[in-house]
Amino acid sequence: MNSVEEETVSWKRACAVDEVAPGEATRVDHSPPIAVFNVDGEWLATADHCSHDESSLAEDGYLDGDVVECAWHFAKFCVRNGKVLSPPAREPLATYATRVDDGVVYVEV
Ligand code: FES
Repeated sequence: MNSVEEETVSWKRACAVDEVAPGEATRVDHSPPIAVFNVDGEWLATADHCSHDESSLAEDGYLDGDVVECAWHFAKFCVRNGKVLSPPAREPLATYATRVDDGVVYVEV
C-alpha cells in the first residue's frame, strides 16, 4: 500500500498497530493535530492539544486506562468522550473515530 492509498479523503493513517504499545499514544500531524491512544488494544482519538493551553497530550500526557493527564497543569480528560475529569481545563476535547485496517490504525479527519 503506498501513501496515496493509505490516506483517503476522510481517513488519515495514524500508525501501525505494533508501533504504539498499550498505554501509549501517537500524535498525528493534522490541523489541528490529533492524539491517537492505545487503550489496551482499543484505539481512541482526541484533539492532541490540551484545551487549557497547548500541551501535546500524545507526546507529553500520561495515559492511565482511558484517562489522559496533561503534563503541564495536570488536567485530566476521558479519551473515550473527551470530557474534562479534572481542572484546570474546562472545555472538552474533540474526539475522532478510528478504524484498523490490515494492521494500520486510521483516524477520521
Ligand atoms: S496545558 Fe493542560 S492543564 Fe494546562
